[in-house]
Formats: sequence, C-alpha cells, structure tokens
Amino acid sequence: MKKILITGGKKLQGTLKVSGAKNSALPLMAATLLTEGCNTFSQVPQLGDIKTISKLLRKFGTHVSGNDVLTIDASTINSFEAPYSLVKTMRASILVLGPLLARFGRARVSLPGGCAIGSRPVDQHLKALKSMGATISLEGGYISAACTQLKGARIYFDISTVTGTENIMMAAAIATGTTVLENAAKEPEVEELAIVLNKMGARIEGAGTDVITIEGVETLHAVEHTIMPDRIEAGTYMIAAGITEGDITLSHCNPQHLHALIEKLEEIGIDIIINDGSIRVMGTPFLKNTDVKTLPYPGFPTDMQAQIMALLCLAEGTSIISESIFEDRFMHVGELKRMGANIRLEGNSAIVTGVDTLSAAPVMATDLRASASLVLAALVARGETEITRVYHLERGYEAVEDKLSQLGAAIQTVNE
Ligand code: EPU
Repeated sequence: MKKILITGGKKLQGTLKVSGAKNSALPLMAATLLTEGCNTFSQVPQLGDIKTISKLLRKFGTHVSGNDVLTIDASTINSFEAPYSLVKTMRASILVLGPLLARFGRARVSLPGGCAIGSRPVDQHLKALKSMGATISLEGGYISAACTQLKGARIYFDISTVTGTENIMMAAAIATGTTVLENAAKEPEVEELAIVLNKMGARIEGAGTDVITIEGVETLHAVEHTIMPDRIEAGTYMIAAGITEGDITLSHCNPQHLHALIEKLEEIGIDIIINDGSIRVMGTPFLKNTDVKTLPYPGFPTDMQAQIMALLCLAEGTSIISESIFEDRFMHVGELKRMGANIRLEGNSAIVTGVDTLSAAPVMATDLRASASLVLAALVARGETEITRVYHLERGYEAVEDKLSQLGAAIQTVNE
C-alpha cells in the first residue's frame, strides 16, 4: 500500500497540461461495445478506473491495447457478464449494460452496492431499459437483462443521472425507432458521448440540453477521437493555486465547462484570467467566505465539493456548503477536522468557519474527491501530512505526484 507525504507551505507555480477526462473516457470506452472494427482514442488518462474498464472490456473478449493512445476492437465479443469483482471497484461498470443489451440481446451485470458517497441506485437505468422492451431480473446480486430487439421509447428520468443518460443513449443508438430522453443530464461528458456516437453513425440530437432525441440506426462503426480535457482535474489544480497563494496556468482545458467554479473562486477573491483553452489562477492571502450548493451541470459540480471545502476552511467568516446530489458525500469532513478545520455538519450541509492555518496530521483517503481535498489541505498545512489509501486518488488523478512536483510542491509517494 502506498502513502503520500506532503510538506505544506510551497506556493505552486508554473504551467500544467490538463489530462483527458476520466468521466468522458469511461462511457466512450463502453460505447465501443456497439461497434465493429478498431476504435482509437487519444489523450486517454492513465488512471485506476481506465485500467478497470479495460479489464472489463477484455473480459467480454474485446481487444484493448495502448496507453494514452488506446485502441479497442469489440468485433470478437464472447461473454456478456460484468462480474462483481470489477463492478465493486468501479460503479461506472454499469455503463456496459446498455450497449451489451442493445447489440447482443443479453447482459449480466453485477448490481453495484452502496459506496462511500451514498447508496447510488441504478433504478433509472433499469426503468428506461424496461420501457424499451427489455426483460430485467435481479438475482444473486446481478442484473440479468434480455431482449430480442430494443425499441425506441419516450423516457422521463425522475432524477438527472449522468451515467443513466449515457447508458440509455448508447442503447437507443441501435434500437429500432425513436427514443426521447426527458430530464436528461446536461453534463459535457454526455454531450461528448453523443458527438462520438454520431461519429460512429448514430443519429442523436439535443445532447447538452435536457431533452435528447435518438433515432435508432442498424449498426455503428469504429472511430478515432481525442478525449476532451478533464474539468474536475482542472478545477482541482485551480484550487491548488488558490489555496497555496500560487500562480498556475492550466493549458488544454475548456473554461466554459468550469463556469460555476470560476464564479465561486472569484467571489472568494482568487484572480482568474481566461484565455482560449487555458486558465491562469492567482491565489491571494485574503480568502472571502461564500456559500456553495452542488447541482447538476451547469450548476456547481458535486465532484468539486470536497476540494472547495478545503479552500473555504481558510476563508474568513462562515461558509455553508450544501450537497444536493449525493446523500452522504462528506467523508472528508472528519479528516479535514483532524487537520484543524472548523466544520460542523447539519444534514446535507457543512458549515465551515475559516481558521488561520491548517496543520499536518495523518489522514486517510476515503473516496476519489475526498482524497483530492486532503491533498489540497496538505499543500498548505504546517508540517508533513501523511495520506493513506492513495489508490482512491489514483482512480481519477493522473500522475498527481509528478504534476504537483512540477509546480513546486514538496510531495513524495512512499510504500507503507
Ligand atoms: N440516482 C438514482 N437512480 C439512478 C441513478 C442515479 O437515484 O438510477 C441518483 C444517485 O444516487 C445520485 C444522483 O441520482 O444521488 C445523481 O447520480 P448520477 O447517476 O448522475 O451519478 P453517476 O452517473 O453514478 C457520475 C459521475 C460521478 C459524479 C456524478 C454526478 C461518472 C463515471 N461518474 O456518476 O463522478 O459525481 O455523475 O455528477 O460519470 C467522480 O468522478 O468522482 C464521480 C463520482
């Protein structure tokens, strides 16, 4: 088991290239299950979750090779089961359900259990597939789905769901007839999936709005595509600049995807200069309090809630952070408190009263974004912070030690 040691107090400076988006790469890789031929993706981030989905695709008989340029050929699929051993390490494995069922008429996918950020059911995915004519049963912890041919349907999602929208968009791409998704998720990753499915030959309109229309086609073909920059990785490094009073320029990023975060950071007093495809962030010693509520895109992302909390721990006055997407995404609070933060939890809100300094402590990563908040706090804490369970961080942040070292952080990964 690895752990990260960070000595706080360095002002991070320099330019950093943002990696390809994890939450875009995962559905795009699942979408290859719909195609014949060899797909090529560039700017694929080297992450734990990418390894997990590659393993899963190989289990079905797919050929996956390469690293940041990845080729996937799903012409030779001979298995339709996503086992518990893989699904339990990555819930996004559910993304194979729609494509497998639509193309092969059957799929067996382990039901994801609860996780560190909430219960996270998949009822909306299943409801939609049933409306499209699939028979679904739950047995022995698995979802068994079958159909002769999925049929287009009008589907209303009771809740805005990112992977739910993606799963059904993929299934509908090769169903017969027209599918209309209402209250669809509007996240940029959903839009990118629609762009790539359309390159594959699908007929999808409206992605990026809450109504998506999909005219089913018979077959899809392989494509080449470069994965868009990761808005959450970019946002995390923006906060790294803010919290260390640093000056970081992020290249290869899309400022439009970061609007809600940029507005909040400016309210807090951080200087931000936006250029085409790059963002410069300059920290300040005087951070102002603000309130944050997480919402579906274009609202403030839940995937940035833990990181902005680390920053607000050092802002003057009191800030209220409300989590409205997941019911239990505050595992980082206890760890930040161990570093001297003043945070009180009241239901789905964290009441954060700024302190002058944070101090180093041994802390434990509990999920991906919680880990990022601990790294951010450690970058500014007095002394050497030791963060254990680093594998959580490696699921979603590429080369974090190299990237932070390049910006001047005192960071080291060691074996426990
Ligand atoms: N929900 C249901 N029923 C469903 C589906 C979702 O009740 O059938 C609920 C969830 O429990 C949650 C809310 O709806 O309360 C939104 O969940 P959503 O389905 O949108 O989340 P997801 O698709 O499982 C993706 C990202 C998450 C990100 C959320 C919200 C991927 C692979 N994962 O998850 O990313 O937090 O959307 O934006 O795209 C991360 O990268 O750290 C991460 C957790």
